[in-house]
Amino acid sequence: MELLDQIQSIVREAETALASAKTENDVETIRAKTIGRNGAFTALGPLMGKIPPEEKPVAGRAFNEAKQTLLAKIEETKNRIADSAAESAGETIDVTLPGRKWHAGRKHPVCQTFDECCDIFRRMGFIATSGPEIETVFNNFDALNAPADHPSRSMVDTFYFADGRIMRSHTSPVQIRTMLAQKPPVRIVAPGRCYRRDTPDATHGVYFHQIEGLYIDTDVSLADLKSTLMAFAAEFFGEGIRVRMRPSFFPFTEPSVECDFTCVMCGGKGCKVCKNSGWIECVGAGMVNPNVLRNVGYDPEQCQGFAFGMGIERLTMIKHRIEDLRLFSENDVRFLEQF
Ligand code: PHE
Repeated sequence: MELLDQIQSIVREAETALASAKTENDVETIRAKTIGRNGAFTALGPLMGKIPPEEKPVAGRAFNEAKQTLLAKIEETKNRIADSAAESAGETIDVTLPGRKWHAGRKHPVCQTFDECCDIFRRMGFIATSGPEIETVFNNFDALNAPADHPSRSMVDTFYFADGRIMRSHTSPVQIRTMLAQKPPVRIVAPGRCYRRDTPDATHGVYFHQIEGLYIDTDVSLADLKSTLMAFAAEFFGEGIRVRMRPSFFPFTEPSVECDFTCVMCGGKGCKVCKNSGWIECVGAGMVNPNVLRNVGYDPEQCQGFAFGMGIERLTMIKHRIEDLRLFSENDVRFLEQF
């Protein structure tokens, strides 16, 4: 039957057109062309009139079904277009919407102190460098002039590997590595982690962090050490902090000193934290022992310098008034979020 063929081809064509329709307008055009008042279906009217009466019910049903199918298809296509329009609208920025909170992480307070220290020393001409945490006995002890029977060498204080290497017990081996690798002048700081076999408590852990300093040149004195530490303390803690030096001993420095900063809790008046002394011990330092210079092939007649080591946890605890060292390694976000 010619009529049925025509109905089918109208539907097929319309379906193809709907499948590639992109806008509501496209759909509307297709609707008008097919089931609209001046559309293809209406145009079939005259043909309908000519078919024999016994075929009319079949033709009529086919006609109506085709119309229904098309109507459903048109509706479906409209929904598809509306959906994708909404989707792409979602990708545009509505500047009136409240912002979404961005949960950025932050640096651990120990890392923040490292950064701050390196920054301050960099401005004084010190280059930040580093060394490995697994060290040789030579770099950690021998070259640093530590006598064979020095207590820190003992298995009770230092972690030893079966092959004789150790976990470094301080950052001072970076002095050795640096001097072995370059000629004077040297002006470095070396932040890093160190390991000691302590029983963990409020002020001890099995590892801690230090920043090492080393300045070697032709004319460096203890006065330079003091002024460097004074400049550091003023930057790190704020103006008004004083520096005090007391005689001490380290195998790798001669003379050796312990340096104290004014207690930031009481401003030097004396309190629980500084045990009423008004001072807090923060730095081990001294003039590099000529034996150390010789061990790395430097000539102690030609150059000299100072070295220092500061505990990073200590600096951080004083600056932020933290009372327990264990907080640094417990990873409690309620603590870490405060910095
Ligand atoms: N290495 C020493 C320590 O860990 C600190 C120090 C460094 C002392 C440099 C003097 C010079 O205690």
